[in-house]
Order: sequence, then C-alpha cells, then structure tokens
Amino acid sequence: MSKPLRIGIAGLGTVGAGVVKILAARGDYLAAACGRAIELVAVSARNTNKDRGIDLSGVRWESDPMALARADDIDLVAELIGGSEGVARELVEAALKAGKHVVTANKALLAHHGTALARIAEEKGVALNYEAAVAGGIPIVKTMRESLAGNEIRSIHGILNGTCNYILTEMETTGRDFADVLKDAQALGYAEADPTFDVGGIDAAHKLAILASLAFGTEVDFANVHIEGIEKISATDIAFAREFGFKVKLLAIAEKANGGVVQRVHPALVPEGTPLAAVSGVYNAVAVDGDRVGHLVLEGRGAGEGPTASAVLSDLADIARGLIVPPFILPAKKLKAPAKAAMDTHKSSFYLRFLAVDRAGSMAEITRALAQASVSIERIVQRGAPVGKGGDGRLPVVFITHETDEGTMARVRALLADHEDVAGTPLVIRIEDGELR
Ligand code: HSE
Repeated sequence: MSKPLRIGIAGLGTVGAGVVKILAARGDYLAAACGRAIELVAVSARNTNKDRGIDLSGVRWESDPMALARADDIDLVAELIGGSEGVARELVEAALKAGKHVVTANKALLAHHGTALARIAEEKGVALNYEAAVAGGIPIVKTMRESLAGNEIRSIHGILNGTCNYILTEMETTGRDFADVLKDAQALGYAEADPTFDVGGIDAAHKLAILASLAFGTEVDFANVHIEGIEKISATDIAFAREFGFKVKLLAIAEKANGGVVQRVHPALVPEGTPLAAVSGVYNAVAVDGDRVGHLVLEGRGAGEGPTASAVLSDLADIARGLIVPPFILPAKKLKAPAKAAMDTHKSSFYLRFLAVDRAGSMAEITRALAQASVSIERIVQRGAPVGKGGDGRLPVVFITHETDEGTMARVRALLADHEDVAGTPLVIRIEDGELR
C-alpha cells in the first residue's frame, strides 16, 4: 500500500468533528478503497477543552492554524473554519502555495476568491476540493464535473440553504413565526455563524455562484448574483400560496439569458407536485437542465454534521486516490470572464400582496393602475376580515398576475407603494414553474 495521505484539520466545529468521526469509523474501508490510508496528523481549533465526542489521542494540536500550512508532515489541509477573509483565506492560500492539497467546506471563500485560488492550486499541481461547500451532502460538484461532461447546461434551480428551507417548512406546518423557528435551526447546527447570511439569501448566493461557474464555464461571479432573502415572508403568504397550489421556497437559479448568465436568489412560489416543491425541512435539492440528459434532480440533506462531513470525506478520498483536477472543471485560464445578463427583461408571473384601504372603489382604482402598467391579473383574493387590532379598515389583498417582466413589475410595485388606497409597500414574490416540472 502507498504512503498515507497525511492531513491536518483546521476547525473542529460541527463539520470538523464529523470528519474526525468518519475517519475513525471508516478508516479501514477508506484505506482499502483508496489504496492508501488517510491519516489525521494534526488539528487546530480555538477551544482545546471542549468535549466534541471525538478521540484525538496521538493527534498533534496546533494553536496556530497556519502551522498546518507550514508543517512538513502534512500533505493536505482541510479548512473547516469558514468565512471569506481572515484566517480561512490566509490558511488556504498558504497551504496551496506550500504545495499542499486543500479541502474546504467554505462557500463564502470560494464565492469571493474561487477563481484566484484555483489559479494557485493549478500552478502548484495540487487539489482544491469543495464538495461540502454546495448543498451539504448532495454530490453536486462531482456530478457537474464527472457525470454531466457530455451536456451543455441550460439552467440550474436549487434549494441551497437548509436553514431557510427548514424555516419555511416549519412556518407552513406549525404556523410558528419566523424568529422562533430560526432559533431552532441555530440550535440544530444548520445556521451560519451569522444567520443573516442564511435568511438574507447570501449563503445560497455563495453556493449558486460556485454552481454557475461549474455549469457555464465562467469565473465565479458572486458580485453579480441578484439576492433577496426570506425575511419578509409571513405565515399569511405561505397560507395564500398553499390556497393557490404553491409552496414558498428560497430558490437559487442560474440560467443562460440574453447572451449572458442570470444568477438570482429569491423567494419563489413553486407549484405543488413539482420536485422542488416537495423538498422540505433541512433538505436541499438541485435541479439541473442539460441539453442531452434533460432534467435531473438531486435531493439530500444540505446542512448538519453527517451530510457535510460525508461530502468532505468524498474529497479526501478522491485526493487519496490521486484524482487531482482543476477546481472549476475547466483550467482557470480557460474560464470565461463573468457574463452578467440584465434581469429586468426576465419574465414570470408574480404574487403581489398588500393591504388595501376598505372603501368603495379602492379595488377598482388599484386594478386600473395595474391595467395602465399593462399588467394583466389572473386571480384576485381579498379577505373580508380587516387586519390590525379591532380592525383598522385595511384588508389583505393578493393578486396573481399573468406573465410580465421584472422592469414592469418594479414599476407596479412603486406605483402601488405610492397609491393612497394601499398601506405600506406591497410584497412581490416571483412564480417559478416552467423549468421545474
Ligand atoms: N447554513 C447553511 C444552510 C449550512 O443552512 O444550508 C450549509 O451550508
């Protein structure tokens, strides 16, 4: 058997501890499958006293994670600290420059610096693997790289944030409010260190930017992802959506359009009965549309110890076997420059919810305003019960529009926000159905 692959792990949080557990439980299997052992040589974590339920006897502790990048007895650094800057970035850069392989679960780092890091890895002839960075346990990076090589990818639709999907599912099934359910997701170890990254759509956007690069052969282009989060979605919207035959999901979409690529993350109404509508709880899913394979949907747990550590192990196993490939499929110098397509010509139907003043003729005026903007209404629901304590003369109204473009919808939203018969700013949610069936 060849010499072991000697690894150092930086970060022993949920994921790092999970990796140590799998190495202990499946060490013999991995050695046999890879033709060499994967040997844990050193670790670095802030808290040396915490009981993580792992056995680290015989493993060296480094107080400075950068020591892992310098150590002569380490071939591979697993960066499981997180964050796009600071120690995680310094460690990955230093390890690659020192000619060590890197495995990371750090989507923020790759979204911001992926192409630059890939250049360093390729110059040094080492691997930069990150299966765990996108959709947790779902093997989507390998699928894009290995299984779909014969396809031109037309679009990707993903549910890429377990915390958001968990929150939306819990709000739907229990009627509990947003903040309450978010606390559960944090306690379960799904949420980011800063949970606004989850609920604000940023984490999903990090993952989407990586997937878009793999799908379209472009440099990673996080700066051009359109991002909206789920903070404004209420239990009322979820109930209305259900009444109309939809689920509310935070979707991450990358598609070719107008000679470029549109990347967008936002809440969407997804028709019941479609694959993505059925994805619940902490589960993630990625629907890929390839010109030869057609629609393909992969579903699995997107966060948590076991699924994320499982993905890290798949990267370690590849490197142990000697599979060293360009991180973004194409060599970094062949990746095309970002090709942002403008979103305002994108067309869809929309869900529009607002509070209307309850007086004779107000609905007629509001619908006239939409007609003037050339927006055709497919359905209107007006609830009889006024909202607010004891009723304050405002009624919740929902419109479902026929297909229109983003630019027009933005104008309608502004127009309604200024309308004297509308209270507050209307909530607009896109309806996504075409590609998902
Ligand atoms: N906070 C992330 C999520 C963890 O909820 O999906 C996995 O990246």
